Amino acid sequence: MCFEANKYSVLQTPPIELLSEDRILSNLESISTQSISQLIILGKTESTNSYLLKLCAQSMQSGIICIAESQTMGRGRRGKNWVSPSGHNIYFSMSWQFERQVQDLSGLSLVIGLAVMRVLRSYPLNDLSLKWPNDVYCQNQKLAGILIDIVSGNDNQYLVVIGIGLNRWIDPASSDSIDQRWTDLFSLLGEDMPSRNEMIAKIIHHLTKAIAEFNDTGFAGFHSEWNQFDYLIGQQVALTFGNQLVDGIARGVNSEGLLVIENDQGHKQAYSIGEVLLAKQ
Ligand code: BTN
Repeated sequence: MCFEANKYSVLQTPPIELLSEDRILSNLESISTQSISQLIILGKTESTNSYLLKLCAQSMQSGIICIAESQTMGRGRRGKNWVSPSGHNIYFSMSWQFERQVQDLSGLSLVIGLAVMRVLRSYPLNDLSLKWPNDVYCQNQKLAGILIDIVSGNDNQYLVVIGIGLNRWIDPASSDSIDQRWTDLFSLLGEDMPSRNEMIAKIIHHLTKAIAEFNDTGFAGFHSEWNQFDYLIGQQVALTFGNQLVDGIARGVNSEGLLVIENDQGHKQAYSIGEVLLAKQ
């Protein structure tokens, strides 16, 4: 009798698919190829965001993408470490130049979360959501994180480095050092886990498209899409920023992407920064 075992259940680890410029570019639609100026693939680097900041901060060059197999000092939001083992995950950064008031960029970080969401929605994943400002969750666990660094240039010019970390497979040896509830695509999709190079092409496509839309409409054009995936809405939350703490019920985001919290007295206020903790966690 011929018995064919599921290769993933036997291996328990997905096969390594190395990053490949050819495979990324062949998956990219020409419209996205036109808007990127360089694709840099590194074996190991401190942090793809730090790499692009060093490379582009002076020149303010837009459309440079840096991806790496691993990061030795991957950076998360609020000074946290982003665990970045080699071979399976996505560590992606892209530089982009904007000409607008810096406060108008606040909605951008939410828009980047929505662009990653558009990529993930093309796969059979259930229960995807966005935790303000831009953590991507699946089944109540973090699947991807976004870090935005901003460098100011002349007048109202800003160079933004958009960093995306997406978990495809975190090996058990690395997972001990992760201090939050996380998941990865291999746990969620098994053998249907998408190709890494194909996903990177989709990220480039959706990022460049979402940035063009953002330049036209600001966050207002994404408001209703955000509302479909808002992880916090209606939940009891605590927002911390500096040494302040605000608690209340999350009431969604306003048309600029600020988080609205209603306190015990029924007073609503919108916040542009902070870390949100959930009462139920
Ligand atoms: C977070 O949720 O805390 C943000 C994580 C961002 C991680 C990515 S990985 C690629 C890029 N390079 C970094 O050092 N950080 C971002």
